[in-house]
Amino acid sequence: MKNSRIAGLGHYVPSRVVTNQELETMMETTDAWITERTGIKERHWANVPEESTSYMGAQAAKAALIQAGIPEGEVDCVIFATLSSDYFFPGAACTLQPHMNFSGNIPAYDIRMQCSGFVYGLQMADAFIKSGMYSRILLIGAEVQSTSLNKSTAGRDTAVIFGDGAGAAVIIPTDDPDNGILAHAVHAEGKYAKELWCEGPSPLDNPRVKPVLDDVNRYYPYMNGRYVFKHAVTRFPEVLKETLDKIGKTPADLDWFIPHQANLRITEAVGQGLGLSPEKVISNIHKYGNTTAASIPIAWSEAISDGRIKRGDLIGLAAFGAGFTWGSAVIRF
Ligand code: COA
Repeated sequence: MKNSRIAGLGHYVPSRVVTNQELETMMETTDAWITERTGIKERHWANVPEESTSYMGAQAAKAALIQAGIPEGEVDCVIFATLSSDYFFPGAACTLQPHMNFSGNIPAYDIRMQCSGFVYGLQMADAFIKSGMYSRILLIGAEVQSTSLNKSTAGRDTAVIFGDGAGAAVIIPTDDPDNGILAHAVHAEGKYAKELWCEGPSPLDNPRVKPVLDDVNRYYPYMNGRYVFKHAVTRFPEVLKETLDKIGKTPADLDWFIPHQANLRITEAVGQGLGLSPEKVISNIHKYGNTTAASIPIAWSEAISDGRIKRGDLIGLAAFGAGFTWGSAVIRF
């Protein structure tokens, strides 16, 4: 049975940078509050409709394929993780295709696991490779969050946190059992769905389309921030250790830990709890905010570009998000 390895990574973020100071002009908030509670200084907002989720995903995918040295025409499967598809249906894995030069009508899978989407996608890609079903898999995490946020004071707890962007990985087989995706674990606990969610639009509304919105708040994301925080700081280390255990390793064996970029306080607490030195923990939330399914591949791709992460490094990933969902993967890059 083949192992699967990461042949290349890429990322794309919109050019528009929105600083905390700019948010101060839209809502009652301060740079000091946002920096202290989240570590975020700025984020990128997409220029829609041009910079859609599928368009940004395609730009990240093209960069990942260039790094992998694999032509677009060789891709045989797309897995797209996002909570912000361009449309209610079809999903972004399909609307990506007109932006790409794929050869033939390759299959397109959408996964909706929010901040854990990229890790869920890695597990799925690994299973596809091991089964022999596909051998050139494009895994994308991309989000346009900025257009869904309530940018008034009423929405400030979520509006300051989320940002837009895309990251992608190319996953291929290898005969080397010690290289590539070595272990993974994913979980979900749906009883907490309403602690971090966006209720509308919903097929439970009858009729779904109404001439006048009766409660506009149902169309904005809702987050029970403290509750999410408490669960995240427990689940991140728990699932990373679960994954490392499967291959007889410990956090001390990792060269790098790339957590989903949820909040700098969560990242720092988890890193300390795992006994990792801060230099081993990748954090770029100050520049991008929380880009949900895109956050891990953006952080990973950036750390390759600036020379921190090198081939052969042992990397631990962990994510937690809406659902609740969480997961981890350990990769010999
Ligand atoms: N600017 C200024 N004040 C704000 C604010 C903002 N952007 N957002 C909230 N506040 C206010 C609240 O209204 C509240 O005021 P009150 O005391 O008068 O009621 C006060 O700040 C404290 O709010 P609270 O929600 O208790 O703050 P917190 O310390 O829990 O921090 C989060 C809020 C959202 C930063 C924090 O809960 C968090 O990071 N949670 C996890 C979020 C996350 O990671 N989500 C993604 C998961 S994948």
